[in-house]
Amino acid sequence: MKKILVTGAVGQIGSELTFALRKKYGEDKVIATDIRMPSDRDLRDSGPFEFLDCLDPHHITRVMQIHKADTIFHLAAVLSAIGETKPNQAWQVNVNGLYNILEAARQYHCSLFFPSSIGVFGNSTPKQNTPQETIQRPLTMYGVTKVTGELICNYYHKKFGLDSRGLRFPGIISYETEPGGGTTDYAVDIFFEAIKHKSYTCYLEKNCSLDMMYMPDAIRAMIELMEADPDNLKHRNAYNLTATNFTPAKISEEIKKHIPEFEISYQIDPARQAIADSWPDSIDDSCARKEWGWNHKYGIESMTKDMLDKISEKIARADKSQ
Ligand SMILES: NC(=O)c1ccc[n+]([C@@H]2O[C@H](COP(=O)([O-])OP(=O)(O)OC[C@H]3O[C@@H](n4cnc5c(N)ncnc54)[C@H](O)[C@@H]3O)[C@@H](O)[C@H]2O)c1
Repeated sequence: MKKILVTGAVGQIGSELTFALRKKYGEDKVIATDIRMPSDRDLRDSGPFEFLDCLDPHHITRVMQIHKADTIFHLAAVLSAIGETKPNQAWQVNVNGLYNILEAARQYHCSLFFPSSIGVFGNSTPKQNTPQETIQRPLTMYGVTKVTGELICNYYHKKFGLDSRGLRFPGIISYETEPGGGTTDYAVDIFFEAIKHKSYTCYLEKNCSLDMMYMPDAIRAMIELMEADPDNLKHRNAYNLTATNFTPAKISEEIKKHIPEFEISYQIDPARQAIADSWPDSIDDSCARKEWGWNHKYGIESMTKDMLDKISEKIARADKSQ
């Protein structure tokens, strides 16, 4: 990877990925793009930023001609919960946007990273230890677009030899940038509320089990997959991936070890609960571990401690600067 383009670079994952790529490959080698300007000055000032709407092929061509990227991390998307309120927009961005990016990657001979999701599974998928290859009949527009994305990325690999690679992310937990409207956002909000108010009202049921991953693991997974020897990649689009698994009740117990007064209550949002119920309880990511050496570093205990430490520091810094 010599010159890298990131779409959706202002989002929860894109902002941290951009910093990590700039640190590893050089600040001027990573072009951050989005339809929103970064509010974070560090992101804006640490390297090139371009306005790029992935729905407009002319934008993509212009940016590709100026910057001559050889690798694209295509993170622009509409997430699961928002996708259910705006299914048309989810289809446009997640499918037509991906198609435009795939075409650019084909024309300019780029490798492509595509983030899929546990949302590609549905009620007819085996729920425990969900295999790499299994039934994919999602009920959400988000899931439909992600299955379509996996298929078209594989098609471009087989038909045109495009080096496309993808991961089925579980819920991603982080503290730098707010999550963008997914079903697993509670697992981020709960930490901020625990520190600020010592309580949290959860919109998912207390025993709703979902796989999760801390952002440093997610960033490392993307970079390691894109650096992996292509000869070892049998599945490509997209690998099951996981790090840890918990329920709202379990994460609240973990938080209580650090903040004993913390209390969780429940006010179920039927829309997001229905999405979570259609997703696997746990994922088998042995293909990722075997084919390109995936290994997570953060489990629930180390992630909880780090999240609470980092959010406390962030709030203290913000209070000081006021
Ligand atoms: N965050 C998670 O828990 C999670 C889990 C599984 C998969 N994913 C996938 O990872 C990717 C990144 O997720 P995220 O959490 O950072 O999402 P996010 O919503 O935080 O960020 C998405 C970004 O895409 C941008 N965008 C929207 N429409 C666009 C367009 N037409 N052109 C260009 N940019 C556009 C938005 O402005 C936003 O900054 C997505 O593909 C998502 O489906 C995320």
